[in-house]
This record gives sequence, C-alpha cells and structure tokens, in this order.
Amino acid sequence: MRSLDSIIGLVRAKEALRKQVQLLKSGSHQTVRGILLMGSSGTGKSTMARCLGFDAGIPIVSLEKIKDSLVGASEDNMYAAIRNIKAIGNCILFIDEVDCYIPNRESHQNTDSGVSSNLLKILFEFMADESNKGKVLFVGATNYPQALDFAMLSRFSLKIPIPPPNIHEIPFHFQKSQYEIIGESTIDVNHPDIIEATQIIWEKGGSDGRIIKDLVSGTDFSPQGILEMARRFTGKPKLHDDIKAELTAYEMTQDKGLFPWYGNPDFTLPWYLKDIVKLESGDYDIVKSIERKRTL
Ligand SMILES: Nc1ncnc2c1ncn2[C@@H]1O[C@H](COP(=O)(O)OP(=O)(O)OP(=O)(O)O)[C@@H](O)[C@H]1O
Ligand SMILES: [Mg+2]
Repeated sequence: MRSLDSIIGLVRAKEALRKQVQLLKSGSHQTVRGILLMGSSGTGKSTMARCLGFDAGIPIVSLEKIKDSLVGASEDNMYAAIRNIKAIGNCILFIDEVDCYIPNRESHQNTDSGVSSNLLKILFEFMADESNKGKVLFVGATNYPQALDFAMLSRFSLKIPIPPPNIHEIPFHFQKSQYEIIGESTIDVNHPDIIEATQIIWEKGGSDGRIIKDLVSGTDFSPQGILEMARRFTGKPKLHDDIKAELTAYEMTQDKGLFPWYGNPDFTLPWYLKDIVKLESGDYDIVKSIERKRTL
C-alpha cells in the first residue's frame, strides 16, 4: 500500500482528498458523504482511492470485485460486504467502476439480467442510511462518467476530475515506471532525449500512467531507448473515448479550484481543451465542451 504522495501530478485532486482525510480522522461532520473520481482510463483513479485508505489509516472496503462473481451470488456478496462494513465501523467504502452498476449503459455490454439494478438498489439504500454518517466515506471511480445518471451522481457530493498527465508530468511517469519495474530510477527528466520523447508523446495525443508504464517496460531505460520508444509509439488507443470521458468529468466538476489548470502556470492545454478553458480565470465553457464531444 502507498500514500497519495506517490501519485504524480494531480495536485488539485490530492489536495481535495487530503482535506477529506483530515476531516474524516477528526470525526468532523463536515466530511462529505461521497467522493467521485472521474476521468479516462489509466489515470490513477483506483490507485488514488487505495492511497486514500492508506493515508487515512482506516480500513478500505472495496466493491471492485462484486460484479466479477457468479451472477446470482452478486447480491449476496453485496449484503456480505455491507455487513462487514457495519461491523468495522469507521471505514472507506470504495466502489470502483460505478458505471457498472447502472443498467443499460449505452456502450458497455450489459447481459447480467437485472443484477446491476439489484446491486444498485442495495447500494443506494446503504448509502442513504443515516447511521453511516461520519463513519463511512463513499469513494467511487469511473472512466465512463457519461453513463452516470442523476440518481448516481447526486450520491457523490464531491466530484473530482482525474485528468491524464499534462506534458510537464510525463517525464516523471517515465521515472516512476522505471522505479516500479526495476526498483531504481536513473532517468534524468532534463535530458534532451527525454524532453524530445515527452514532446513526441504529447503531440501524438498524450498518454496515461498505465500506458507509459507499459511503454517504458519495453525499453532499456536509457534516454535513447525512451526516445526510440516514443518515436515508435502509435498513439493512445481509444483516444476519442478518453477525451469524451475527460471533457464530461470537467463538465461535472462544481468547484473550479479542482481543475488541473487552476492556479497552475505550468499547465499546457491539450488541443481538445483549447477555446474551452480560459486559463486566466480558470473557467470552463460547458456549452463548447458539449459541442466538442459531438465532433469527436
Ligand atoms: N498520476 C499517477 N501517478 C502515479 N501512478 C499512476 C498515475 N496514473 C496512473 N498510474 C499508474 O498507472 C496504472 C493504472 O492506474 P489505475 O489502475 O489507478 O488507473 P485507473 O484510472 O483506475 O484506470 P481505469 O479507469 O482503467 O480503471 C497503475 O500502475 C498506477 O500506479
Ligand atoms: Mg480503475
């Protein structure tokens, strides 16, 4: 288990999560009921939720595997998880891929004959239970925020966008990936080849923590090796789906202080945010964002 300190970038998101950890630990009633981490795939949402449990020093109960179990047993597993949570008392309930609980999602397979609806009903009832207040912090994650309905969204009062790495963060992902693969980190983020490799990846549409780790694992970790990898990189798969998820996440964010560009002079706007984000004020134009998604 790791701390939020091990997460690269995502400064705004980490700040907001740390604040909630403090409130939770002090038993404050100001702690929000639910936090939703929203963003495209591979950006570190599941990892951050686990880090949050570590930093809070309280158990984290995870519902990520509930739907993997045999159909029919899922509801029993959900009830078992809820009984566990009640027995533990203070804890974080992490519901990964909350979109999986929404029946009839547009673009995901849904052949579970009502299991999703049943699970969702049980989950919502538990989330609404007043006796959990101040004891259970609900943390959800989704890479498909477009699929969430109002009922689900309203359960999470704090919605945090988790964007892919900005250009200046990519070299730190190289470093971290090397460290995770071989236990040491020799990559110099200021080496000209590393800077060039970063620029190339950015121009190909950027990337995410998971893909960068896969790419780096195929190199010898030398600056030339990383540059060669960047030249051969064909671009992020499902790029447009990921952009849609990211734009939707910003549209749903209610506090502009949570935007990654807010108060961040290093932030470089990717092409799909140009005209939508006003860097001086930090504002996000939702109408233009919706229009952009239509053109993708
Ligand atoms: N900002 C980051 N800092 C550190 N590690 C990261 C970051 N983003 C991604 N990673 C690494 O990338 C991998 C994938 O991260 P993770 O599974 O948390 O992504 P995710 O957002 O939950 O993706 P998905 O939406 O597909 O479930 C992990 O190994 C994680 O450690
Ligand atoms: Mg995940």
